Amino acid sequence: MDEKILDRLKSVIYPGFKKSIVEFGFVKSTDPKIIVEITSAKPEVAQTIKNEIEKLNLNKEIEIIAPKPQTQQSNSQSGKNIAPQIKNFVMVSSGKGGVGKSTTTLNLAISLAKQGKKVGLLDADIYGPNIPRMLGVQGKQPEVIGQKLKPLQTHGIEMMSMGLLIEEGQGLMWRGAMIMKAITQLLNEVEWGELDILLLDMPPGTGDAQITLAQSVPVTAGICVTTPQTVALDDSARSLDMFEKLHIPVAGVIENMSGFICPDNGKEYDIFGKGGADALASEYDTTILAQIPIEPSVRIGGDSGRPVSFYEPNSISAKRYEEAATKLWEIIEDINANGGADNSAIQPDMSRSGCH
Ligand SMILES: Nc1ncnc2c1ncn2[C@@H]1O[C@H](COP(=O)(O)OP(=O)(O)OP(=O)(O)O)[C@@H](O)[C@H]1O
Ligand SMILES: [Mg+2]
Repeated sequence: MDEKILDRLKSVIYPGFKKSIVEFGFVKSTDPKIIVEITSAKPEVAQTIKNEIEKLNLNKEIEIIAPKPQTQQSNSQSGKNIAPQIKNFVMVSSGKGGVGKSTTTLNLAISLAKQGKKVGLLDADIYGPNIPRMLGVQGKQPEVIGQKLKPLQTHGIEMMSMGLLIEEGQGLMWRGAMIMKAITQLLNEVEWGELDILLLDMPPGTGDAQITLAQSVPVTAGICVTTPQTVALDDSARSLDMFEKLHIPVAGVIENMSGFICPDNGKEYDIFGKGGADALASEYDTTILAQIPIEPSVRIGGDSGRPVSFYEPNSISAKRYEEAATKLWEIIEDINANGGADNSAIQPDMSRSGCH
């Protein structure tokens, strides 16, 4: 490829992102004509890129290759979306508790919002809703409009959590039917806006909440959060199996607590091992969306309601969350271009069929 032309093309930013079409690896040829292959099926994305390249006056023919637009949005295909104003649902799961699902979901949500997406965050962990504290909004009462609850607007995202609806510290005992009702209500009795994406922070494991969600909305993609240790990995395999059973396309794995960033010298140390999730990702034919190190500011941010992606955007973790958000969005566009979510085949008796 012609390096000079490639260099000029670096000024063409992929619409909705901060990186150029060159950095994304979309430029496939510069000679005899410029060929750019994109993953978005939206005609306006292809047109914008073409216009921007034309402005460079490179005197070359330009061809933009894009996936064919779907005639129907994936969300309406299944006919069972109880929150149809939301374009994409992403479920963040893990086989094991405490691996950093909530931290990951929250920082991914903020990163996507910073990239211009309209983002919602549903804390679907009805047993231990942590998101309000992590966002510093615990104790806030959501407004009621008519029959619906208004999600809280905070840190550039919309958020709803059972933690806003129950007394702080009040433990809840949920049975299967109650879980289903609670999750359904958090989806259709909350006045969610017209969202590009709703991220769903799940309780640990592979139980009723996950199954209810898969039955209520077409989940565009699932993310599995794991730590590098082997035990966590065995459990993670279970959560990837669950996505498979629920027909949820897997967007990728996030390896959390992967290495340690020492606050004294900024160096990265290997504590629990690093890269342990690589084998898992390849076994399930998916990718690692990010490796997030143990960074004290991540935990402090969680405890104090000051998430790193918002308050410490230059930290290593915040940058990696941002990269993961970019990759995630690309994958979502790809999934939608290829027909979208198809978990419409889920049968209600799934919860008894060994999804554990
Ligand atoms: N990369 C990280 N660096 C430092 N601390 C982290 C990191 N990721 C998570 N933590 C901390 O680890 C603890 C557990 O994280 P988190 O609550 O996100 O896990 P979880 O998987 O959602 O847990 P649960 O299964 O209980 O819902 C929190 O105190 C959080 O601040
Ligand atoms: Mg959690």
